[in-house]
Amino acid sequence: MGEIRIRKYDHLRDARRFAALNYRTFRDSIPAEEPVDEDDFKRHHQWLLSHFAPHDPQRNTVLVAEIEGKYAGHCWVGRQTDFFTQRVDPWIFDLSVAPEFRRRGVATALHRAVLELLRAQGQQLVGLQVMAHNIGAAKLYEKLGYRPRAISLKKKL
Ligand SMILES: CC(C)(COP(=O)(O)OP(=O)(O)OC[C@H]1O[C@@H](n2cnc3c(N)ncnc32)[C@H](O)[C@@H]1OP(=O)(O)O)[C@@H](O)C(=O)NCCC(=O)NCCS
Repeated sequence: MGEIRIRKYDHLRDARRFAALNYRTFRDSIPAEEPVDEDDFKRHHQWLLSHFAPHDPQRNTVLVAEIEGKYAGHCWVGRQTDFFTQRVDPWIFDLSVAPEFRRRGVATALHRAVLELLRAQGQQLVGLQVMAHNIGAAKLYEKLGYRPRAISLKKKL
């Protein structure tokens, strides 16, 4: 298996692969028991991409991982305002690795590179959300040093 190369996102080159992998991850984030209209979700995903603008380096940081020239994964970081404190901190919107490149350290390498950039910008905290059913991602994030700050709950009516 080839070396992992981390580089900045290039919209012309990466937009299609970024959107496809991000779509899968965001779609899979919706718990199976919640009804989803696929066309609505597709439209919503287009809106998310235009609103949260991964292509805008003034607002977001996106790194891409390549292995032997192939798009292996990405990490998309924006900003999130804390509900209680109004503090604005970096927030990982998406850390995704293509299925064929998983369990080879790609997410760990992307995360390391993103943290280096954030530290260089003087940032002190970074957050993210992981869905309760996403056990693999929860294990990854625990290994990377994240600890729960809130637990969001839902109940059937
Ligand atoms: C979660 C995800 C990003 C992990 O990417 P990855 O490149 O395979 O992760 P790494 O190889 O860096 O894993 C590092 C460690 O995290 C843990 N880990 C990663 N994936 C895991 C899984 N599916 N199950 C259990 N532990 C896992 C392991 O401890 C792993 O170390 P090991 O392989 O030596 O056991 C990848 O599975 C993915 O893209 N999933 C779909 C998208 C997603 O859910 N993203 C997170 C939500 S934003």
